[in-house]
Amino acid sequence: MIDDRLPLLDLHRHLDGNIRPNTILELGQHFKMQLPANTLAGLRPHVQVQDNAPDLVSFLAKLDWGVKVLGNYDACRRVAYENIEDLSQAGIHYAELRFSPGYMAMHHDLDSQGVVEAVLDGVAAGSRDFGIPVNLIGIMSRTFGQAACEQELAACLAYKDRLVAIDLAGDELGFPGELFVAHFKRVRDAGLRVTVHAGEAAGSSSIWQAIKELGAERIGHGVNAIEDEALLDYLAEHNISIESCLTSNLQTSTVSDLSAHPIHTFLARDIRVCLNTDDPAVHGIELRHEYSTAANAAGLTPAHLRRCQENALAMAFMSAEQRAKLA
Ligand code: HPA
Ligand code: ZN
Repeated sequence: MIDDRLPLLDLHRHLDGNIRPNTILELGQHFKMQLPANTLAGLRPHVQVQDNAPDLVSFLAKLDWGVKVLGNYDACRRVAYENIEDLSQAGIHYAELRFSPGYMAMHHDLDSQGVVEAVLDGVAAGSRDFGIPVNLIGIMSRTFGQAACEQELAACLAYKDRLVAIDLAGDELGFPGELFVAHFKRVRDAGLRVTVHAGEAAGSSSIWQAIKELGAERIGHGVNAIEDEALLDYLAEHNISIESCLTSNLQTSTVSDLSAHPIHTFLARDIRVCLNTDDPAVHGIELRHEYSTAANAAGLTPAHLRRCQENALAMAFMSAEQRAKLA
C-alpha cells in the first residue's frame, strides 16, 4: 500500500487532537476532575467518534476532554511527548504537528505562552528519544473569536523561530477567514508559512479567501474546491497544496462517500494533495490506515498513493537540511 522506498509523512496532524484516551483518564484522575466515565471503555465514546458527527462543530466537541485534563504545564509536556511516541509506533518518518495553545490553556487558566514552551519541550524530548524529525505549526482557534486568536498568535510569535507555520482551525462557518486578515499579515511579516483549514465546512469562496487574503500556501481539507473549476485550475497552476484527511471528512460529514471524494479530481488535475490523519486519537485511526482507506474505500491506485507520498515531500514546510536527511 505504502511505497517503502519513500518516507511516510503526516503534515496535517493535531497534537491536541491526539491525546490518548488512557492519558485523559490518568490526567483527569490526577487532577481530581469529574470525567464522564472512570474506565477506558466508558470514556472512549466521549473522546472518540463512534458514529459520524452531523457536522464539523459537533465533531470538534469530541476534542474537548483531551484539553480539559491539561491541568498544568507538565501535562502539556506529557501529551506532546506522547505524540512523538505515537509517531514512532505508527512508522511515520517526519511529521508536522499543529496545536492551539489557547485551546490547551483555557480550561485551567494556563498561560498560552507557557503552553507553547511546554509543547516545545515535550516535542524536543520526544523527537530526540525517538529519532523523528518534527516541525510545529501554531493554530489560531477561530471558534473563540478574533481577540483570543490575537493572544494565541502573540504566544506563538514569541517562539516564532521554533515554529514553521501558523494555521486557522475550528468553526469555519461561524468565523470566516475575513475576520483574520490582520492576524495573517503579522504571521507573514514574521516570516512564518501559512496553512488554513478551508473548504471543509464552508464553500470554495472560503478557499479563495484563504489564498488571496490570508496568504495560504496550503489548504487543510479543501474538499469544496470541487465546486469551482476556476479554483481547481488555480490550485494546480500555483501549486497551492491540499492536505487531505479522508476519515476525518467522513466523520465530520464533510463527505458522505469516500469513493466520490474530491481527492480523485485533485490527483487527476495534478493538484498537489497528500494523505494525513487530522486527529488520530479522536478518529481512532493512524496514517497507514488512511493509506489503506484511500485504496480500499476511496479506490486510489498504488500510483496515486505513491503520488500522495511524493506530494507530501514536496509540500512539507521543512528545511533543506531536513529534506536532505529524509531522502
Ligand atoms: N477542522 C477544523 N478544526 C479542526 C479540525 C478540523 O478538521 N480538527 C481539529 N480542529
Ligand atoms: Zn485539521
